[in-house]
Amino acid sequence: MNSFGDRFPAALLAALRDARHVTTLTGSGISAESGVPTFRDAQTGLWAKFRPEDLATPEAFQRNPKLVWDWYAWRRSLVAQAQPNPGHHALVDLERRVPRFRMVTQNVDGLHQRAGSRDVIELHGNISRTKCFEESVLIPSWTETGETPPPCPNCGGPLRPDVVWFGEALPQAALDQALEASQSCDLFFSIGTSTLVHPAASLPFQALQHGATVVEINPDPTPLTARAHHVLRGPAGELLPALLRAAWPAQNAT
Ligand code: OAD
Repeated sequence: MNSFGDRFPAALLAALRDARHVTTLTGSGISAESGVPTFRDAQTGLWAKFRPEDLATPEAFQRNPKLVWDWYAWRRSLVAQAQPNPGHHALVDLERRVPRFRMVTQNVDGLHQRAGSRDVIELHGNISRTKCFEESVLIPSWTETGETPPPCPNCGGPLRPDVVWFGEALPQAALDQALEASQSCDLFFSIGTSTLVHPAASLPFQALQHGATVVEINPDPTPLTARAHHVLRGPAGELLPALLRAAWPAQNAT
């Protein structure tokens, strides 16, 4: 692994300082240092231990709603115990430093918002929200009846997490905003994502096509690596704060 530390390419530092519009796409890797498991890392990823087709599809929920509800309840408790890490905080700092900043995330853990990021575009929903499986309306609260999953207070159908499952469409408004942000930025960061799950995975390529400088931050290579202008190999929680310190040393010294 080649960690740049404070020796980032001058062209990257200049692109960051001169950027008018920065868009970031984050994936589960940015929350790894908060103790939230990724999906595809070989030993620690959720999909190394669980089968997505048993837990993250509408069919799985219809087959065994209790199993799926309980699995998300377990993940919700993991996320509730986790704290935003220096990578999340560095992106809040970056948001304050550039004229226009858009945050797009595939994460459902809400850690960007807890760190202080504003207007986060959530492509895959949020595990803290619950909706009705039948009618897809958000349900902020319900009465515990002892049933798992609890019944919807409106229609009696089962409640489910407000996350996007395999085979489901992404929320259209979020996808439209993410596309616009990717196509109109001058600097795009792809952070902690395997760049395998579409349509999110197409966003850095949209940014490239529209002339943005694209930076990847990830300990491992992805399908984006060969096309990215700059590849920073290592954990986001170390590299992002170091990158900001290198780009704006004077402000950090005061
Ligand atoms: P993945 O598990 O596919 O990829 C995580 C990426 O984070 C990998 O490329 C790791 O190398 C990288 N990584 C690990 N630790 C890191 C660190 N400390 N700093 C930076 N990067 C690190 O997760 P996603 O790309 O988020 O979808 O997965 C995309 C989607 O697939 C998820 O949103 C989820 C999943 O199935 C749904 O649930 C719909």
